[in-house]
Amino acid sequence: MSESAGGNLDHVLTESRLFPPPAEFTDQAVIKSQAQYEALYEAAKNDPEGFWGAEAKEHLHWFEPFTKVLNWNSPNVEWFVGGKTNACYNCVDRHVAAGRGDKAALIWEGEPGDTRTLTFADLQKEVSKFAAGLQSIGVQQGDVVSIYMPMTPELVIAMLGCARIGAVHSVVFAGFSAEAIADRNNDAKAKVVLTANGLYRRGKVLPLKETVDEALAKSPTIEKCVVLQRIEDQETPMVEGRDIWWHDLVADQPEDFPAVPLDSEASLFILYTSGSTGKPKGIRHTTAGYNLWAKRTFEWVFDHRDNDVYWCTADCGWITGHSYLVYGPLAAGATCMMYEGAPNHPAEDRFWDLIEKYKVTILYTAPTAIRAFIKWGDDHVDKHDLSSLRLLGSVGEGINPEAWMWYHEKIGGKRCPIVDTWWQTETGGIMMSPLPGVTATKPGSCTRPLPGVVPVVVDEAGTELDVDQGGMLCIAQPWPGMLRGIWGDEERYVEQYWSKFPDKYLTGDNARRDPDGYYWIMGRIDDVINVSGHRLSTIEVESALVSHPAVAEAAVVGRPDEIKGQGIAAFVTLKSGEPTDELRKELRLHVRKEIGALAQPDEIRFAAAVPKTRSGKIMRRLLRDIAAGKETAGDTSTLEDYAVIAKLRENDES
Ligand code: WTA
Repeated sequence: MSESAGGNLDHVLTESRLFPPPAEFTDQAVIKSQAQYEALYEAAKNDPEGFWGAEAKEHLHWFEPFTKVLNWNSPNVEWFVGGKTNACYNCVDRHVAAGRGDKAALIWEGEPGDTRTLTFADLQKEVSKFAAGLQSIGVQQGDVVSIYMPMTPELVIAMLGCARIGAVHSVVFAGFSAEAIADRNNDAKAKVVLTANGLYRRGKVLPLKETVDEALAKSPTIEKCVVLQRIEDQETPMVEGRDIWWHDLVADQPEDFPAVPLDSEASLFILYTSGSTGKPKGIRHTTAGYNLWAKRTFEWVFDHRDNDVYWCTADCGWITGHSYLVYGPLAAGATCMMYEGAPNHPAEDRFWDLIEKYKVTILYTAPTAIRAFIKWGDDHVDKHDLSSLRLLGSVGEGINPEAWMWYHEKIGGKRCPIVDTWWQTETGGIMMSPLPGVTATKPGSCTRPLPGVVPVVVDEAGTELDVDQGGMLCIAQPWPGMLRGIWGDEERYVEQYWSKFPDKYLTGDNARRDPDGYYWIMGRIDDVINVSGHRLSTIEVESALVSHPAVAEAAVVGRPDEIKGQGIAAFVTLKSGEPTDELRKELRLHVRKEIGALAQPDEIRFAAAVPKTRSGKIMRRLLRDIAAGKETAGDTSTLEDYAVIAKLRENDES
């Protein structure tokens, strides 16, 4: 079994502290009692069609009503069959139509300190103009639009603008390399790319457009490139006939361009994520079910009230940004904070400064960020008044109990419940989480499933395991937010998620359920590692290393990292050349160029050979132990060459 990402398994296994929600919180909460939760849970489990049919009618706008709630023919699923809705309409127009147009939808701050607030009415005008602009350059329903942009309001406008006309967005995190963008463009056959002439990061300007130009040289399906002028006075090469400034595109467009009625199952977006092979997969989500799931899970988990100022610190390049910065909170009519830059610029108190300044009430962030804040010291926190906060959330990896306690005491002033939310790109939204007014929390546990989620922990044979036995976490019933496939690769979709157990969705995580019915996530069952809450496949990094001319073979594993949860350790054998520090540096840069900075190995060890089983599989468990500095545990009798281990230990660069 692999180690828990970020968490210390020993701690998690012995953790027994219990934190009931404060009475003042419960009194005002949307869901107030365990009985209320259980009633919802049972209704969704026993009568999914009745439950979700009523939810969809109430919580989404329908241009045409659906005729059937659910078609489930494992692994194919359709929700709200025959209905027509539009995710952009649900997130924007619906609120304006209901007289809430003047409410702030986005409160944004750029890294240099520039600020903008967009009301729902403003957002409606902006998405109208942009959607019309997209259509004017030939984007049609079903076309894929790649988005490689900084965290600006335009990134949200871009996503919603696509949704408005039924174009399928594929957001690529702005830290990925030109190679990675090109791969995604080509896999998705994207027609248009949206970018900016730069982004601010720790006071420096990163020239995004240059990276995109490099990618476009290898992206034959791209016809147009729309460029936001984020940075003034920045020399930006524009290719005649292909590149268009954002401001020119929207200049003469109408402010009342209507949202197109779309089939419930029309693709809303693709988001690439790492699986157990070298090639990232484009997870496909559709319109109605996803939007409903994002909205309702947001409202339940974050106990949303009309006067909240909600801040999700995730980048829109990841699923958390999609579901909990855009589609969930905006559909719920929430006021969302959005911040462009680094948490430590100009100083390590930037987050606390923003919370104080904008009176943020709900903060949703990641354990890796929390661990960095702990390291930076309490002084940065103590300078600020954080009394506006009433609820804290965590996502991306298990939160280790130490970080949980610090978050609870230092940021939450012991009065804010913490919701540790477990979910995945594939699930579309949160699957397991405390309900803040109801669930007594245990540090390190994502507690219980939300209504509509039926988890089971099984062994290799698919038999459900008893309480406290660790096994594979599966989901036994379809839910509205589930992925509908892998873009362009039906076979891989079935193989990856439905081949082991044809009637259950395989999450890829290990978990156990404790005697109170609480779930504890125990890390992945596959070769996916979790670096700062970002999913990476070890094979993806290996492929990047092997594409360097000096490298014969590479084996990559995760190793514990105090801040990142998992760091990346690479074992490399060379074709030629000397194992020097220079080469180490070069290989790191090479991976950065192939994938992006987030995939750079933290450690590279040169070896004469990589240990393999007789059948030729890399012995990752062994390498993980070596990378973690542990003595080799377990059975090594299948090792091809015992001498290899001794050699690997010797060549410890640290
Ligand atoms: C891990 C991010 C423990 C898990 C939303 C999952 C977690 C993978 C938690 C999905 C959590 C996410 N506790 N582990 N609260 N949240 N994970 O697709 O291994 O980027 O399978 O989605 O992150 O990562 P993804």
